[in-house]
Amino acid sequence: MTDENPQFNTWFEGQNETDELLRNAAANETEHSDELSLRPKYLREYIGQGPLKEELAVYLKAAKMREEALDHVLLFGPPGLGKTTLAMIIANELGVHLKTASGPAIEKGGDLVALLNGLEPGDVLFIDEIHRLPTNVEEMLYSAMEDYFIDIMVGQGPTARAVHFPLPPFTLVGATTRPGMLSKPLRDRFGIINSLEYYQPEDLQQIVTRTADIFDAPITKEGAYAVASRSRGTPRIANRLLKRVRDFAQVSSQAAIDTDLVEMALDKLRVDQKGLDDTDHKLLNAMIDFYHGGPVGLNTIAANIGEEADTLEAMVEPYLLQLGFIQRTPRGRVVTEAAYRHLGRPVPAEK
Ligand SMILES: Nc1ncnc2c1ncn2[C@@H]1O[C@H](COP(=O)(O)OP(=O)(O)OP(=O)(O)O)[C@@H](O)[C@H]1O
Ligand SMILES: [Mg+2]
Repeated sequence: MTDENPQFNTWFEGQNETDELLRNAAANETEHSDELSLRPKYLREYIGQGPLKEELAVYLKAAKMREEALDHVLLFGPPGLGKTTLAMIIANELGVHLKTASGPAIEKGGDLVALLNGLEPGDVLFIDEIHRLPTNVEEMLYSAMEDYFIDIMVGQGPTARAVHFPLPPFTLVGATTRPGMLSKPLRDRFGIINSLEYYQPEDLQQIVTRTADIFDAPITKEGAYAVASRSRGTPRIANRLLKRVRDFAQVSSQAAIDTDLVEMALDKLRVDQKGLDDTDHKLLNAMIDFYHGGPVGLNTIAANIGEEADTLEAMVEPYLLQLGFIQRTPRGRVVTEAAYRHLGRPVPAEK
């Protein structure tokens, strides 16, 4: 597109923040090179999320048969469940390039134009944290997604004029941990909308086994299950806990990681039988000690335990809700009887 559009070239000069944007994205990837090597590359290697995988396999196949760009995909779900991994898999399966960006890093319309400019027909643009796109950028994205063009204003004052840039057909994959924060017009432009669910222990057990294999760290079936069951249904946590357990195995010169070693190591890391860590305990105990188990607003709890309300809402609360340890009510969060029991605390009479 750049070559055919001299106006664009002129405009494009001086937009070298874009390079920086791409460099940052690349730097982020190297930072997590460990995570990168653990990422499955094809759908068949992606463990769990059965219904989502089946659905996606159909859409991928159909798009390939028609030689069309895949419809835009929105993935949502708690952190670490495999959204970024899935975006990479989509590009791999389609045999196209993947460009990665993050919502808050696309500050200006120009940043978006630059990202879109490099795309070839059928390519995938992955925007992580898409709920954090600035409004003006989001609005530019509407026509890009719907009709593959963008109009941008070039020049200033009386000489300002709109320039029309056609784009190749492409697939936008958006990921968000906060689907509720996505505007309706943006959401409506995704043809494929899917949520990722917390993983079953059996699926996580497979993931742990696979990762241990990549690490060349022998682990028993039961050992892998023990890691899995304390990983909050989350592959990223499973992999992280496995790394720590592997350290304990190494130091104690144990040949294979077994249940005893896992339990010893995870107790030391203060990850309990349900996978709850210090933050979860702090949150639940504060709700019980200071607010009689609720109802209490999230902001109040956050201030009380010195955490960001956003962090609690995105990273801590979803799993506690899933376990049925807290409930959301119109008047705030409430600790459930199950949580009292899990914490070994007396259940108040009114529960
Ligand atoms: N289905 C899966 N099978 C095997 N490994 C997985 C799977 N899903 C995720 N993982 C592993 O878990 C890690 C985290 O996944 P990923 O980075 O894709 O999560 P995410 O949903 O993008 O998280 P965030 O919301 O924080 O960006 C990756 O290193 C990947 O190896
Ligand atoms: Mg991600």
